Amino acid sequence: TTPVESEVVVVGIAAGADPGDGDGGSDAAPVVVAPGLDGEVTAALATLAHSVGASTKVGSTTRVPAPEGVPGRSVVLVGLGSSDDAVDDETLRRAAGAAARACRGLGAALVLLDAGRAEAVALGAALGSFRPAKVTAKNDDDDKADTVKVFVAEGGEDAVTRAATIAECVGLARDLVNTPPNLLFPGSFADRAAELAAAAGLEVEIMDEADLADGGYGGILAVGGGSSRPPRLVRLTHRGNENRPPVALVGKGVTFDTGGISIKPAAGMEQMTMDMGGAAAVVATVILAARLGLDLTVVATVPMAENMPSSTAYRPGDVLTMYGGTTVEVQNTDAEGRLILADAIVRACEDSPSHLIDTATLTGAQMVALGKKSPGVMGTEEFRDRVAELSRGVGEGGWPMPLPEELRDGLDSQVADLTNVTPHRWGGMLSAGLFLSEFVAEGVEWAHVDVAGPAYNDGGAEGYLPKGGTGVPVRTMLAVLEDIAAAG
Ligand code: BES
Ligand code: MN
Ligand code: ZN
Repeated sequence: TTPVESEVVVVGIAAGADPGDGDGGSDAAPVVVAPGLDGEVTAALATLAHSVGASTKVGSTTRVPAPEGVPGRSVVLVGLGSSDDAVDDETLRRAAGAAARACRGLGAALVLLDAGRAEAVALGAALGSFRPAKVTAKNDDDDKADTVKVFVAEGGEDAVTRAATIAECVGLARDLVNTPPNLLFPGSFADRAAELAAAAGLEVEIMDEADLADGGYGGILAVGGGSSRPPRLVRLTHRGNENRPPVALVGKGVTFDTGGISIKPAAGMEQMTMDMGGAAAVVATVILAARLGLDLTVVATVPMAENMPSSTAYRPGDVLTMYGGTTVEVQNTDAEGRLILADAIVRACEDSPSHLIDTATLTGAQMVALGKKSPGVMGTEEFRDRVAELSRGVGEGGWPMPLPEELRDGLDSQVADLTNVTPHRWGGMLSAGLFLSEFVAEGVEWAHVDVAGPAYNDGGAEGYLPKGGTGVPVRTMLAVLEDIAAAG
């Protein structure tokens, strides 16, 4: 079939077989992957790609004028790696994402990578088309024209619609993370989440500081107490299948983390605007569950607070009574995420969920252990492994990590049930996980996903990942919810 006419046409190029001349590389023309174009046109593209030395590295892009017979003005050649390797879904998503970024500002783009896998191609392209919002008084019509409109070869209309919905919700999480901390604070975040959730047909409950005080939410109130902008607890419910228990999602919503009285160094502190990445992902995921009509009840419990130093701030040495009655000695006000999560986890467990996923930009130790692109997944063993595996399947890279018993002693307190930090720095991500485990109700299958690195890309854009908020782990949580809905 002849694809629609478009400004730019995206085709894949893979390295041909090594001719065996001993230089270890391929001197042959690349293999062109362009379903829908006929043999002659494909051959012309291969010659063109070869003559300009277009790279076949996954996600490399080269723009060339369109030869006769291509339904567009120019062609973006995108690398798919070696033609010897089967192209997996993540490679397709990354290539489509990189291509979409290369097409930005050029108008409509037609992506001809693999007609049989429309969802992977469409999702990569849609995620890669994301444009970060700008705070500006200027008319941003020009910026909007810059947004590339992507078409996928043929077929799979449902897959393309689904991919667009997923990409929109990932985009929502990215936009929330990218919103500067003077504009996104607990009150405004809660209102925005409520507005978006109501539009998607969710039930919404916002608890303000008075409600939190009445309820005894000692962790959220302490962490939020130093700010003139008081904390919130937001609850969003998608009512799906009423014949089985709900699944709970909990996300850390620290709208800015100065460290509080245990203040952070100035260098790099501006990045702590992303410390609500877990909350953003949870809000986006429950909205996505509703928009996809998931046959499962999903309840999001999202604590929001700004961690500031002031005369009303909580201090090192304070003993807090958390929601549910557990007492915690604060030894470091910068270990604040676990305190607001603890309250939220106890509240979430009151709904008797079968499973609970919490996610948070919780520890710098996550990055020390696993780097910037592999979320650390802890929790009850079976569910932890299932979440990590599904996360890798969608390209978000979750990796299972232990909760070693010997670290638990480090959380013992002289004066309370627990302290919020250990006296040593070993296994910081795992100690945080152990702290949270104390608040998860018996019998609940639980996964804790630490996305301190993966939620935010402080390097350059690559593949379908933009700079700034990444939207991780929205697609992991969607995959888990769909797996639970399917398997029970
Ligand atoms: N929000 C930070 C963790 C973080 C650090 C996220 C860097 C993203 C990038 C968290 O609240 C924090 O400050 N954690 C401390 C814990 C420590 C005091 C036990 C940390 O990781 O240093
Ligand atoms: Mn902190
Ligand atoms: Zn934090």
